[in-house]
Amino acid sequence: MTENEKGLVVVSGASSGIGLAMTNKLLMEGYSVLGLAKEFCSAEITHENFSSVEIDLAQLDKLPNELDQIIKNISEPIRGLVNNAGIGKMAFLEQLSVADMRLVMETNFLSHAIVTKAFLPQLKKQKSLVDIVFTGSEAALVGARQGSIYCASKFAVRGFVQAIRDECARSQVRVSILNPGAVRTPFFDKLHFEPGGAKENAIEAEDVADLLISIFNARPGTVIDEIKLSPQAHVWQRKE
Ligand SMILES: NC(=O)c1ccc[n+]([C@@H]2O[C@H](COP(=O)([O-])OP(=O)(O)OC[C@H]3O[C@@H](n4cnc5c(N)ncnc54)[C@H](OP(=O)(O)O)[C@@H]3O)[C@@H](O)[C@H]2O)c1
Repeated sequence: MTENEKGLVVVSGASSGIGLAMTNKLLMEGYSVLGLAKEFCSAEITHENFSSVEIDLAQLDKLPNELDQIIKNISEPIRGLVNNAGIGKMAFLEQLSVADMRLVMETNFLSHAIVTKAFLPQLKKQKSLVDIVFTGSEAALVGARQGSIYCASKFAVRGFVQAIRDECARSQVRVSILNPGAVRTPFFDKLHFEPGGAKENAIEAEDVADLLISIFNARPGTVIDEIKLSPQAHVWQRKE
C-alpha cells in the first residue's frame, strides 16, 4: 500500500455488502483503505491502496492484542475508522440460543467498542481531522418483531456513539452513525426473509457509501451526527 495525501481509512466488514461498497468508494475518492473481516477470499479488491487483515472481531478476548499489532503496523495518518461489521440473527426471542444472543451483541456492539477504544489514543494524538463512523440501522431507532437482540445491539451502538461523540468533542475526532433500513446485500443470505425485489424495496450499498463520503466531506467544525435512510417502499418477502 502506498501512502497518500488523503490518509488511511480502516473499514470493518470490508469484504462484503455495505463495507465493500464503502471501501470501493473510498478508494475511488483517493483514500487508502485497510479492510478488516473474517476472510477476504470472495472480495476482489485489487486496488494498490487497499490492504486487509483477516480478524474475527467476535473473539473479544484476543482483540486487544490483535488490534495493538494492527495499529503498530499502520505507518500513515488515519483519516477514518468505519465500524461496520455485523450479523443478523432474526427470530422470536424464544427461538434464539444464548450463543446466538451473545454472538450478535459481541459482533455488532462490543467488538466496535473495543476497536474504538484501541484506536482512540492514536486518533487523538494525530491532531488531524478524523471521522469515526458506525453502521447502525433503522433497528437502532425502533424495536421490531424478530429483531429483539439485533435491535438491542444497534440501540447499544447508538448510545455508545452519542457518548463518545461528546467525549471526543474537544479533539479533532468526529463521531457519526448511519442508520439504513433494508440494504440489498448478502446480509440476507442466511435469513428467512429479504427485501422485495423491486428497486424501491431496498437501499443499495452504494447509497450508504455515498453518505459516508458526505460525512467525511463535512466542514471541519461541523459533525453529521446521524443519518437515517430508508427504501422508498417497505416490502419484505419470505424466502422459499
Ligand atoms: N443489509 C441491511 O439491510 C442492513 C441494514 C442496516 C444495517 N446493516 C448493517 O450494516 C453492516 C454491514 O452489513 P451488510 O448488509 O453489508 O452485510 P454483509 O454483506 O453480510 O457484510 C457483513 C460484513 O461484516 C463482516 N463480519 C461479520 N462478522 C464478523 C466478525 N466476527 N469478524 C469480522 N468481520 C465480520 C463480514 O465479514 P466475513 O464475511 O468475513 O465475516 C462482512 O464483511 C452490519 O453492521 C449490519 O448490521 C445492514
